[in-house]
Amino acid sequence: MAQTRRQFLRQVGITGGAGVMYSTMSALGLTSAAETPAYAAPSRVELAGRGTKHVVILGAGIAGLTSAYELLKAGYKVTLLEARKRPGGRNWTVRGGTEETDLAGNTQRATFSKGQYMNAGPARIPQHHVTLDYCRELGVAIEPFVNQNADAYLYREGSTALSNKPIRHRTAKADTYGYVSELLAKATDQGALDSYLTATDKQALIGFLTSFGSIGDKSSGFKYTGTDGRRGYDVEPGAGLEGGTTAAPYALSDVFASGVGNYFSFEFGWDQAMMMFQPVGGMDRIPYAFEQAIGREKIQYGAEVLGLRNTSAGVEITYTTGARPRVLTADFAICSLPPHIAAKIPSNLPADIITALQYARPTNAGKLGIEYGRRWWEEDLRIYGGITNSNLDTVNTWYPSYGFHGKRGTVISYYNTGANANTYGALTPAARLDRAVAQGTKIHGDVYGKDIEATFSVNWLGTKYSEASWISWPSQTDGVYAKLLDATGNIYFAGDHLSHAIAWQHGAMTSARATVTALHSRVASK
Ligand code: ALA
Repeated sequence: MAQTRRQFLRQVGITGGAGVMYSTMSALGLTSAAETPAYAAPSRVELAGRGTKHVVILGAGIAGLTSAYELLKAGYKVTLLEARKRPGGRNWTVRGGTEETDLAGNTQRATFSKGQYMNAGPARIPQHHVTLDYCRELGVAIEPFVNQNADAYLYREGSTALSNKPIRHRTAKADTYGYVSELLAKATDQGALDSYLTATDKQALIGFLTSFGSIGDKSSGFKYTGTDGRRGYDVEPGAGLEGGTTAAPYALSDVFASGVGNYFSFEFGWDQAMMMFQPVGGMDRIPYAFEQAIGREKIQYGAEVLGLRNTSAGVEITYTTGARPRVLTADFAICSLPPHIAAKIPSNLPADIITALQYARPTNAGKLGIEYGRRWWEEDLRIYGGITNSNLDTVNTWYPSYGFHGKRGTVISYYNTGANANTYGALTPAARLDRAVAQGTKIHGDVYGKDIEATFSVNWLGTKYSEASWISWPSQTDGVYAKLLDATGNIYFAGDHLSHAIAWQHGAMTSARATVTALHSRVASK
């Protein structure tokens, strides 16, 4: 009997899971090639008749939690060992009462007021990341994260005409785009690009530049005048006869010399373009939602892994919760610890696997949260969320994307990486604050040092159990990294470091899905 297409799809959906459904839809031409293939969660059906396999997961960060959550769906038994007293790993939201001692011995106790927090690790989620799918599935409410704001500042310290003063993004953009358009329109019109462009191309390009740069017509020499309001006003348009007075654009050579245009490409990034999102109430809503879905009793907190062994029957994990070491045996292990930390754990992993783990290069990032008693960036500067970027060692300052118009607000005074993060990381928390306030004052004025209610800083390289903000690989194609993608005996690996979305929860989640899929196919095919 001929089946309808719908009946056919329903059938494969039921028997084969979402992945089969998806590939069948692809085969029938019902999806576009650009879509990410749907994840086929391991199904209980495929395990029917087999004994329950026990998987021990090292690390309850995002990769570990995702692995546990997905394995539980298919009926595996899971045990998570987590050294910290909380889930999430680098997904860490600091609130009033959070206490942390770093590897240098600095102890901080956050005194942020109720409702105020800082996301010390991940803080923004792009629309296309599976992180949002888990938020939906786990019931974690999300809200927009302001990653670009036309009224945030750019600040370039230096000796050019535009150095050492805050310039609004909109002003820098209007002038940069305006002058680039003027120059390119002139060159095009004067025939400088004739070997590349037909007459029709030239017309179309000039049409684009006229709109993009808001430049005049040919009779004006395609002049950029900055009079359309894009760059801002000296007197804003208002009621009645007040049409507004525009400020004159900065001089062309000053605009390019200043370097203010060099940050715009950030917002074109695959992972950084708006819209972006954050969980309502802090990024750690995600790990806590996973914890609840998995079951708190399956997670052993305060458990430091001391040893990891493949055995003929499965795996043997030695760990401690402070007292005598304990041994846990299971059928499989998924090690989601940072690779440079996993490499240091005594194990019987072969030398080439240890070498592969050691191949990871730790990166540093730092953040300082300052809670102010007044939202001066909104009240005085009319900046509602977004990022001020500078060439100071603080690099990026984030205005909060929550609590608008509230009494208080927590600014991320600096979010920097690499050498700048190391500079701040080497200081005591009090000295970090002093230095960051001095830098922030250059951009925002004295208000930056006033009404400070609470602060907390993180230096990821010096943070126990992470010892990096994320890692990079010298290569992901030379065969070394790839060794960690397959099981070594009964031990699997997972983490954002085993993805092409390093430093994103998406990377941790997709890596966990790949690992769970590999483990499950093995179990199901036995
Ligand atoms: N994913 C990190 C960020 O957005 C690196 O800053």
